[in-house]
Amino acid sequence: MLHLDAAHQTPLSTAVRARLDAFYDQAQFTAGPKSTWLARTEEVRAQLAGLLGVAPETVAFTKNTSEGLNIAARGLRWQPGDNVVLLASEHPNNAYAWLAQRPAGLEVRQVPDDKKWADAATFAPYVDERTRAIALSHVMFHSGQRNDVADIARLAAATGAQVVLDAMQSVGTLPVDAGELGVAALAAGSHKGLLVPQGLGFLHTAAPADVLPPTYVATAGVANTRADLVAGPEALRLRPDAQRFEIGNFNLPAIHALGGALDLISAIGLPAISEHLLSLGDRLIDHLDHLGITLAGPRERERRSHIYVLELPDTGWAEFLAGSGVRLSKVRTGLRVSFGLYNTGDDVDRLADILARGQRSLRPA
Ligand SMILES: Cc1ncc(COP(=O)(O)O)c(C=O)c1O
Repeated sequence: MLHLDAAHQTPLSTAVRARLDAFYDQAQFTAGPKSTWLARTEEVRAQLAGLLGVAPETVAFTKNTSEGLNIAARGLRWQPGDNVVLLASEHPNNAYAWLAQRPAGLEVRQVPDDKKWADAATFAPYVDERTRAIALSHVMFHSGQRNDVADIARLAAATGAQVVLDAMQSVGTLPVDAGELGVAALAAGSHKGLLVPQGLGFLHTAAPADVLPPTYVATAGVANTRADLVAGPEALRLRPDAQRFEIGNFNLPAIHALGGALDLISAIGLPAISEHLLSLGDRLIDHLDHLGITLAGPRERERRSHIYVLELPDTGWAEFLAGSGVRLSKVRTGLRVSFGLYNTGDDVDRLADILARGQRSLRPA
């Protein structure tokens, strides 16, 4: 198949598979021990923190992006009548985390994004002294637009709001430095740019103790557990770090696998990966211009990503491309081509040949 669907899910990488196999061998033949696995978990946490340019104690493992966003939406200190500002086109997993808080009195302002990307000017008319958060995707799943998060964070800082970032599409595809972006919380999952199968995510919070009390509490998040593991009536002290958000046992196989993915990504380097993905985009845009096919998202290099949505009419294109062995996704704006680090210039040229064939065969009689 011609796999152009990294924004949906990346195929299992050999490096990741090797770590999963090693984990399952250990599980089968030595049953861990779990302490070894937990030590490895801390190594992977440090690797992941390094990728984000933050300290390991600010990173919690979660199930997925949604879990991290829900922790942020519930934990940010807001009062009834406060508001959060979102793009109307936001990913539903980001929007629902906030919309679900409306019965408790949170106002959710959904902002039209009529430009090709969002920056401070997009949000400014909707932000006021009751705005507690601006919550947005770094790279948007339906257009590939890369929003200007640093600009938005400056607006938030000037008005006392926090930025909560959904980095699901950008982590592993673009350099994402959480500190430089100036976000209070950043959530993502690992089954796209981070190359690990579904069921693992993470949440980075800039100041967890002050900003975000946890929604759920378990032993992992408590600082004063007793040695005999009796949960007594004494006051409960939460861990001061992001591990306060972790509950119960982890997805240990996936965390081990993430270590393999992070080794691979750091060996290549994120600047090289993102340059490669943008170059594939340059090449695709040249072909699209030649074929007369319009791109739904921005053309500007610094505002685009690994995602390119083709505005093709609903005249059998999705079926034609599937029948030609092309794996991509249909999204609300068109047919979404998305590149992973494994895609090549030849893949783009092959797609262009298939699109040219489609134009000939789908032309109205
Ligand atoms: C921007 C964005 N956020 C979140 C998700 C997924 O959320 P979760 O990791 O909770 O499944 C996706 C895609 O699946 C996405 O594109």
